[in-house]
Amino acid sequence: MPAFPKIREVHIRNYKSIEQAVVRLGDLTVLVGANGSGKSNFVDALSFVRDCVADSVEQAVARRGGYAAITWRHGSSRGPVGIRLVIDFPTGDVADYGIELTHEGDFRSLVVEERCVVARAGGQFDRFSLKNGVFIEGIAGIRPQIEPGHLALFAASAAPEYRDVYAFLVAIRSYGIVPEKVSELQAPGVGLQLLPDGSNAASVLRRLEDTDSDRFERVTELVQSVVPDVTGIGIEPFGGQFETVRFDEAGPTPELSVSFMAASMSEGTLRVLGFLLAAYQPVLPSVLVIEEPEANIHPAAAEVVTSVLMDVSRRSQVLITTHSPEVLDYDDLSDDVFRVVAKADGRTAIAPISAGSREVIRDHLYSPGELLRINELGADLVAAKQLSDGVDVFGPPARRIGEAA
Ligand SMILES: Nc1ncnc2c1ncn2[C@@H]1O[C@H](COP(=O)(O)OP(=O)(O)O)[C@@H](O)[C@H]1O
Ligand SMILES: [Mg+2]
Repeated sequence: MPAFPKIREVHIRNYKSIEQAVVRLGDLTVLVGANGSGKSNFVDALSFVRDCVADSVEQAVARRGGYAAITWRHGSSRGPVGIRLVIDFPTGDVADYGIELTHEGDFRSLVVEERCVVARAGGQFDRFSLKNGVFIEGIAGIRPQIEPGHLALFAASAAPEYRDVYAFLVAIRSYGIVPEKVSELQAPGVGLQLLPDGSNAASVLRRLEDTDSDRFERVTELVQSVVPDVTGIGIEPFGGQFETVRFDEAGPTPELSVSFMAASMSEGTLRVLGFLLAAYQPVLPSVLVIEEPEANIHPAAAEVVTSVLMDVSRRSQVLITTHSPEVLDYDDLSDDVFRVVAKADGRTAIAPISAGSREVIRDHLYSPGELLRINELGADLVAAKQLSDGVDVFGPPARRIGEAA
């Protein structure tokens, strides 16, 4: 049984560059691929489900620029968007949640189908489903009225059977750290969770300093390991209403040490800090998604980034996108954490590493990073096709591990 809840498998239909895909995820999954191959599109599909459930389908679509932006386009083909997530819980229960959406015009959403099935011990299921806004299988004990274009899971979360699924999905968080946002003056907040761009870094750091000195020390040490000049970090109030992160640097003598506000620090340093705060924030996401954590960081720091990701993936599921060979070269990463993302003919394929590349890696002839550098990190496209041919948003409900269908 897993130590924490996590996504076992994702099915996607017609989402951005993904016509169809089935992807298995582990505690840590690293998506590697060229620019424009569809890495961000895949992780955005997860955030999209989160936004649909936590906010509304309409807002989630609008935030992404309307249906024209999110549905797979190839010639005139435009099928409905379907996404299914299979989630394993520490109890051994398995939730299988699928949605299919279509639209009228660019912004009016229609939920064609929604289904949630939770497999319990002993082959029992809790389940509800709707088609075109009408319950096919109701939610025991409640009779919510679902507006067209809305999902029922929020209402269902009032019933204890579906609370964990809802809580898991709304706690998926995806980070793209923006250095200028990390360094700008910030209004103080509670700092329990880092915002997606890092724009409440000071509050999160203060929260850690006040309530979790171990993690605060760890963040400080890791910043120091990447930026050796830094002797300490802290939070500096600013004009009564704002605060910002402060970096202390050693001078030639202790009296000559200096402090800098975050705005004076390099982009790479701010990115590292944002990354570390995402990893060690007080309330961890259910799935911590980090896009290109190594961007603009010195290659030598890639090892710190990777070891932190491995550390976090012992407490929560971690998913990253990268095109950095350095991140892939970390010795302790096993080759089955990688998914090679490639786009051909307008379609994104997401595949395990090919048997050939695995062999080369296991024989220590090349590391994954070296293969990536020479453009030889092979994708097992046959396996990917086999998996994605089985895409089925409302297929037979997933079973508990070890329980036969
Ligand atoms: N609605 C869509 N239909 C088909 N392809 C799309 C759609 N939206 C984006 N794309 C493709 O996805 C690409 C961007 O993919 P992205 O996931 O951002 O790449 P990366 O791997 O660099 O993160 C674009 O270049 C475009 O070709
Ligand atoms: Mg990207």
